[in-house]
Amino acid sequence: MRRVLITRKLFPEALALLEDQGVAYEMNEGPPLPKRELLRKVAGVDGLICLLSDRIDREVLEAGKALRVVANVAVGYDNIDVQAASELGIMVTNTPEVLTEATADLTFGLILAVARRIVEGDRLVREGGFKGWELDLLLGAEVHHKTLGIVGFGRIGQAVARRARGFGMEVLYYDPIRRPELERELGAQFVQLKELLSRSDFVSLHLPLTPQTRHLIGREELGLMKPSAFLINVARGPIVDEAALVEALKSGELAGAGLDVFEHEPDVHPELLRMSNVVLTPHIGSAGRETRLRMALMAVENVLAALAGRRPPNLVNPEVWP
Ligand code: GLV
Repeated sequence: MRRVLITRKLFPEALALLEDQGVAYEMNEGPPLPKRELLRKVAGVDGLICLLSDRIDREVLEAGKALRVVANVAVGYDNIDVQAASELGIMVTNTPEVLTEATADLTFGLILAVARRIVEGDRLVREGGFKGWELDLLLGAEVHHKTLGIVGFGRIGQAVARRARGFGMEVLYYDPIRRPELERELGAQFVQLKELLSRSDFVSLHLPLTPQTRHLIGREELGLMKPSAFLINVARGPIVDEAALVEALKSGELAGAGLDVFEHEPDVHPELLRMSNVVLTPHIGSAGRETRLRMALMAVENVLAALAGRRPPNLVNPEVWP
């Protein structure tokens, strides 16, 4: 019988899918497994279903003597040493597409929340500070007809561009790959990163975390942004140099930030916690009910395919497929 280790709680519908196919599983329902436990448990399984918060490094992969597939319940897979997996002949899969729209929705949520001071307003009302309508109460930045700079023009970046059209925004994008075919459809203009940073009222990041994108947005890049501009990050924390961001916000080089991800997640830079011009969410970009269920089902489908000798639909290291 095939055995799968699930590092954190998964939805019952996804577990039922495993059961239907006669695959046995062990699911950790407690806090994240300490490395030692993970190493011990992975030793006896054919498949691993994990979250982006699990570090699946070479040591873990090597401990999985019978391991054939690692299915990440996420589109990003920077938490997995894919090169080591490929060397060991282990398939790695992710959950693309199903979370594109939900993540683009949250991006706009953060843009609106930080610019229009929605969270500050909520706090003010709860604290009894709303004494009546005032002409200049909580004046914020406007979003409509402003310039949005999208860094990373893949599926999620494009979905953000579609939403921006509805707000009458001017859309700039930067991506290592220019997409002329999309420029007219989405009304987006390709520019180099420096130009995007200096022209945008909102800069939104939609890139994977790789050695090339780590600290892509650092002191120099933040310095190029307008003092009235906002930075939005729903991608991966380490793409931004968080200490440099804190400095830029403190010195007024930047008007504010909307952050769903953090450099040392789940820790957040203590100074960010004190800033009222920053909106913070706990990595919930894809956390729509239907989306998260689809992600879990997709991870299970990938594992089932791999264990049945079929090519998993979302294989990220095709070099291991014969
Ligand atoms: C979430 O961050 C994901 O990569 O799916």
